Order: sequence, then structure tokens, then C-alpha cells
Amino acid sequence: MSEVEQEEVIAAALAAREQSVAPFSNFLVGAAVRTDTGKIFTGCNIESASYGLTVCAERVAIWKALSEGERNFTNLAVAADTQTLTPPCGTCRQIIWEFAKHADIVMVNLHGDREGVHIENLLPRAFDARFLKEFNAHKK
Ligand code: THU
Repeated sequence: MSEVEQEEVIAAALAAREQSVAPFSNFLVGAAVRTDTGKIFTGCNIESASYGLTVCAERVAIWKALSEGERNFTNLAVAADTQTLTPPCGTCRQIIWEFAKHADIVMVNLHGDREGVHIENLLPRAFDARFLKEFNAHKK
């Protein structure tokens, strides 16, 4: 992917952060994914008064893309206003592993800091459908 395309995904994540619905934490997060069809889908965190129902920006972006028929993710950017770059939470790591394993992930903040990460490093020894397949193949 070209530098320009990477910049588009980052810009989309930063813009999506502005839509964040986070009245309880005030921690605004934006995310954007690019798919192999060249489309960009964005997400922001959306908090519920029943806190546990809150959804992270990354999952909103991934769900939007999947629900529009996209299946292959090339890039994912996550944007938050922290000095130490904010990585995807544990739940999002699982979803990234299952649906966007091959995406280049970049974390960004409002100061222009950036860092790329790989999902294998964020979620080593991940659980996924392989275990279910193995189980079903061997059960009597
Ligand atoms: N949050 C995200 O949206 N993505 C992350 O990677 C980390 C956490 C949100 C969830 C919640 O609305 C707020 O940040 C504080 O946890």
C-alpha cells in the first residue's frame, strides 16, 4: 500500500474519533480499516450507560465493513489522544485476529506519533476456529 493510502486510513481514524460517543470515560477513540476493494470504513467508540455494552472503535469499523460484504482487510488505524500510543483492547485483538489478521495495524495520536504493530505480537497463541475444527474432527 502506498504512503498516500496509509495516510488516508490514518486521517479517517482521526476524523472518526471526533464522532466518539464517550460521555462516561471521555476517552475518544477512532478507528479505520481499509479493505482489498479499496474502501475505507470508520468507527468510533460508543458507550452505554450499562458500561459493559460499550463498543470499541475498532470493532465498530470492522463490523461496518463486514456487514457491507467486505472480507479482506489490508490496514487498520486506531487513533486516541494519549502520549503512549493506545493499542486495541483484548476483545478487539481477538476480533482483529479472526477477521483482519493480515491487516497492517498502526496506532496514532494527536501529536503525529505513529507505530505499526502486528496482531501476532498483540495476541500470541490466539484461539480461533482451528480449535473448533480439530475438536469436531475428533469427537465421537
Ligand atoms: N476503547 C476503544 O474504543 N478502543 C481501544 O482500543 C481501547 C478502548 C474505548 C472503550 C471505551 O469507550 C473507552 O475507550 C475507555 O475504555
